Amino acid sequence: MSRIPVAVVGATGAVGQALVAALHGHPWFTVEALVASERSAGLKYRDAVRWVLPGSIPPDVADRTVLDVTTDLQTPIILSCIDASLARELEPQWAQRGHRVFSNASAFRLHPTVPLLIPEVNADHYALVQYRESTWKGFIVTNPNCCVAGLAMALGPLTKRWSLERVYVTTFQAVSGAGLQGLAALPIADNVIPWIAGEEEKLQKEPPKILGWLQGARVVDYPVEIIPSCYRVPVRHGHTLALVIEGDADMTPERAAEVWQDFRPPDWVRQLPSGVGRPIRVWTEVDRPQPALDRDEGQGMVVHVGRVRGQAGRVLCTVLVHNLIRGAAGAVLLNAELSVSLNPV
Ligand SMILES: NC(=O)c1ccc[n+]([C@@H]2O[C@H](COP(=O)([O-])OP(=O)(O)OC[C@H]3O[C@@H](n4cnc5c(N)ncnc54)[C@H](OP(=O)(O)O)[C@@H]3O)[C@@H](O)[C@H]2O)c1
Repeated sequence: MSRIPVAVVGATGAVGQALVAALHGHPWFTVEALVASERSAGLKYRDAVRWVLPGSIPPDVADRTVLDVTTDLQTPIILSCIDASLARELEPQWAQRGHRVFSNASAFRLHPTVPLLIPEVNADHYALVQYRESTWKGFIVTNPNCCVAGLAMALGPLTKRWSLERVYVTTFQAVSGAGLQGLAALPIADNVIPWIAGEEEKLQKEPPKILGWLQGARVVDYPVEIIPSCYRVPVRHGHTLALVIEGDADMTPERAAEVWQDFRPPDWVRQLPSGVGRPIRVWTEVDRPQPALDRDEGQGMVVHVGRVRGQAGRVLCTVLVHNLIRGAAGAVLLNAELSVSLNPV
């Protein structure tokens, strides 16, 4: 099949770069437009971007001219990697014009008829797009906050077996989660910063929607209380989460580890180009997972669970998620692939 042209908006940012790298050689999509702010518009991509990823800028895009965000984009698919305030303004305009918009931003994640997807966990929620705003010829699909991508992936399989009541989550978040601007401004060397703007609210609000049940035109939230504490730590990429999961009395650490070990997404999801056969890796070594060693497994799409311990009704564990890939660029790409596999462009 001929490849589908896509636009990457926010192409010079931390997530945008990871997406441009992931799209290089993609079997279904080809990058047609690279869009960023006025600062970058008109420059060659290689001159506009401060490339922070391993390897060099993909040669097929390095000499492309970066477009201004006011450009009338012609691609059927827009991959949006801009901040939430800009997304709130632009994404509905693109949807109104008929584009399929796949967004990393938080602006529409909790909108009742916008899917908030982790395909391995809640692919059925994609059906919400049929109830989209009446003025939208296209639609918006979102992926969760980068920590939530790891948290909900870990909780999802457990909710199929037990009722969960409460989750305490402490995050140790990499600096690339702050984006390129934030990164430059963070006093992170020799430091831990005990607050990340807006993060704890997202950890409380997004998982109940992802883990919830589709009921007609809305999702009924999964009734779990989440108690988060978020910290920025001097790690380049990869967010680590320490969880205490409270639920049914027959949920033991051993059984929870088995559930994670046995977890497989539906065949059609894992066969998507960015899908992985085993999206959860369970570690028995007491000193794993570690971001520096483990974050890149499965091209960054694997969520790691280790240090599984505790007692009946209360399971403790450590989760690692690659914030730029499973938590952002890989997530938006997987959602776009899911959409195209269900409704060809
Ligand atoms: N970093 C993560 O781990 C992560 C994870 C999940 C979700 N997200 C979300 O993904 C989005 C992007 O995050 P990021 O970390 O990649 O941020 P970033 O590194 O700060 O990049 C922001 C991008 O937006 C562009 N931009 C800024 N103002 C613009 C404007 N007025 N018009 C058009 N483009 C504009 C920037 O272009 P210039 O270079 O021209 O300024 C840049 O390409 C945010 O919503 C963030 O919350 C991030």
